[in-house]
Formats: sequence, C-alpha cells, structure tokens
Amino acid sequence: MSRGGRLEGSLNMTKNEKYSQLLPQIKSVVADEPDMIACMANIASMLHETFHFWWTGFYRAVIQSEELVLGPFQGPMACTRIRKGRGVCGTAWEQNRTVIVEDVELFPGHIACSSASRSEIVVPVHDHAGIVIAVLDIDSEHIAHFDVTDQVWLEQITQLLTDKT
Ligand code: SME
Repeated sequence: MSRGGRLEGSLNMTKNEKYSQLLPQIKSVVADEPDMIACMANIASMLHETFHFWWTGFYRAVIQSEELVLGPFQGPMACTRIRKGRGVCGTAWEQNRTVIVEDVELFPGHIACSSASRSEIVVPVHDHAGIVIAVLDIDSEHIAHFDVTDQVWLEQITQLLTDKT
C-alpha cells in the first residue's frame, strides 16, 4: 500500500481504533526490554507518531526531593523539573489519578511549557506497590482533545511499565 493510502486509512480511523491497533504494537516493543527509560522513549515516540499530539512524554518522580524530572519525550523542549502538587503533572502525582484538562487556561497553576498547548492529559505510572514512579503527559494544541477513551487506553499503556517493576 502507498504511503498516501496508509495515511488516508489512518485519518479515517477513530481514536479507539487507533489505540486498539497501537496497544499490541507497544506491548511487543516493550516486551523483552527491561530498561524503563528505553521503554518510555519508544512509548512516547509511538503515541506521538500515531496521534500527532503537540507534546508526548514522561516525567520521572524523584521521591526524595518531591520533584518530577523530565524524561523521554517527543515535541518541543519542555521544563525540566516540576514540584509535587504543581501544574497538571504535579497534581496527577499528588492526587495519584489521571487528570484531564479540557482548557489549560482554566486550570489553576497550569505550567505553560508552550503557549500552543490548549488541553492536556496526565496519567500516573505506578510501580507494583502502587507508588507513582513517573507520569505520562500529553499536550494537544486543540481544546478538549482528551476524554475518557484516552484515559482508558493510556492507563493500559502505563500498566505495561508497571508490569516491569
Ligand atoms: N503543562 C504541564 C507541564 C509540562 S508540559 O506540558 C510538557 C503541567 O502543567 O504540569
């Protein structure tokens, strides 16, 4: 099939269909790789290439200093450290839950790494004991881009990292 054909097919697919094709691909890529950073790098790349988000990446939790530190990502440069409880990422860590922000301008304390970002989803990554070890952060330049469909699939993707701990 031509490159154009693949692209057209992909544009006509629903979000759900794209995730359902992507999940087994991510599973097979991370299956035999024990290094967490390598797995995060490929997950960020595969999500970014599939959905063309504005920014897709991980921040890793440093428990001692209560900070998130920038990890593997795709997209424009981003802030390197975020304190626990700050911004969308620090909130997702502190509250230990997925946070979906339909309009970043309406989220108190949102950290604007890029003015192009309009909506955001942050999914905690846990170890096997349930401790947050990182967050998966995805930004879109479109308002209200993320919903519960993204949450359900992205939580399955972060579970693949939990399974490695
Ligand atoms: N907007 C995030 C900061 C990280 S960047 O979006 C990559 C936040 O408020 O935590």
